[in-house]
Amino acid sequence: MWGGRFERGPAAIMEEINASIDVDKRLWREDIEGSKAHSAMLAAANIISAADARAIKKGLDMIAGEIASGDFVFSKRLEDIHMNIEARLKDLIGEPALRLHTARSRNDQVATDFRLYVRRACDEIGDAIRELQRALVAKAALHAATVMPGYTHLQTAQPVTFGHHCLAYVEMLERDRTRFLDARKRMNECPLGAAALAGVPYPIDRKKTAKALKFDRPTANSLDSVSSRDFALETLAAASICAGHLSRLAEEIVLWTSPHFGFARLTDAFSTGSSIMPQKRNPDAAELCRAKVGRIAGSFQSLLIVMKGLPLAYSKDMQEDKAATFQAIDDIGLALAAMTGMIGDLVVNEKAMREAAMRGFSTATDLADYLVRKLGMPFRQAHHATGAIVAIAEKNAKRLDQLKLADLRQIEPRVAADVFERLTVDASVAARASYGGTAPDNVRAEVARWQEKLK
Ligand code: ARG
Repeated sequence: MWGGRFERGPAAIMEEINASIDVDKRLWREDIEGSKAHSAMLAAANIISAADARAIKKGLDMIAGEIASGDFVFSKRLEDIHMNIEARLKDLIGEPALRLHTARSRNDQVATDFRLYVRRACDEIGDAIRELQRALVAKAALHAATVMPGYTHLQTAQPVTFGHHCLAYVEMLERDRTRFLDARKRMNECPLGAAALAGVPYPIDRKKTAKALKFDRPTANSLDSVSSRDFALETLAAASICAGHLSRLAEEIVLWTSPHFGFARLTDAFSTGSSIMPQKRNPDAAELCRAKVGRIAGSFQSLLIVMKGLPLAYSKDMQEDKAATFQAIDDIGLALAAMTGMIGDLVVNEKAMREAAMRGFSTATDLADYLVRKLGMPFRQAHHATGAIVAIAEKNAKRLDQLKLADLRQIEPRVAADVFERLTVDASVAARASYGGTAPDNVRAEVARWQEKLK
């Protein structure tokens, strides 16, 4: 392809380090799509003949068929997907194939192919996030009033509803989804026609190729076109953040399904056994989802470091962009799908959640709020008095709602019997009806809002 001034072929190890076909063969659809758009534009601009463009299109379609059916023979000697396809085109259609590379370079070609690939990945990841959101909203609908302990520092804090907890992840995932969409918007400019780095002397129509490939517009600077990979970095950053969120949900599934919590159970479909301990039910899929962030954030780091300090414009370093990106795209897709499966599978133990929510003096804040609202006590003072009451309960190994009115009056004589109504976990969650709060009615309204949005 480029051997005109060379006398000998490359050393075997040179070929080994130079070839990227094993990784970039995945770009075959995008490469063919890009070449079709390019040759159609060349013909429309009278840079090649209409007959050549027709032959090129026909040949490219044949190649697509060969690759799709597994008949195509990829060659390392031909380095990458671009040259593999171009060489095969020459075999199939002869001379017109030699005109396809007019007014383009592999530099703008790969930049275009890769953008197309990452753009599609952003769309698919967005769809996968939607599926997980649907699964979480469905769980939230079932458990709008299921009380569980809410934690801070993983210490019992206040009762919350499981539905509210599920919807917290729906919110996170919505930010994740829109991060991919934002990245997509910025990357949706077409580098094709920037050629090697400086543009071309032919009367090409970059708007036409941009439109044919469904980009919003052509990129404005040829040097930037072939040398930027921040579209991939941004996608990997979005994937890293999303994977971070998945790792938190995964960790909670690990906790909830452990016998110490017993809040939920995964069915056999999402559990694994131990080869030595017959009693075990392990949440392997959750653990793997928890772990994926390592590889995904690693991919982000990897590409960032590859790109750091590269002078304009293209350098071969940039060939190392794809392995990391493809890996991360695969991993986040797999993690999202597995998580969607697990959420659907998760069987909640409402009784265990409720009992846990009743422990740990979880309604102590409700007692303090009672003192504030009923007796007009300043909150700081109410906090102090409640602390003293908790100490009494703790000493007597009682829950707050099991104390006698006399116990409470030791600390605050104005307390009335109606205080006990406030100290149940149900009253506690129902009272938190402030906007964004955990009250079952709020959760039902939020479920309805999400169901509408996710239709
Ligand atoms: N395989 C190369 C890559 O992925 C294609 C671009 C090669 N360009 C070049 N000037 N050698 O980056």
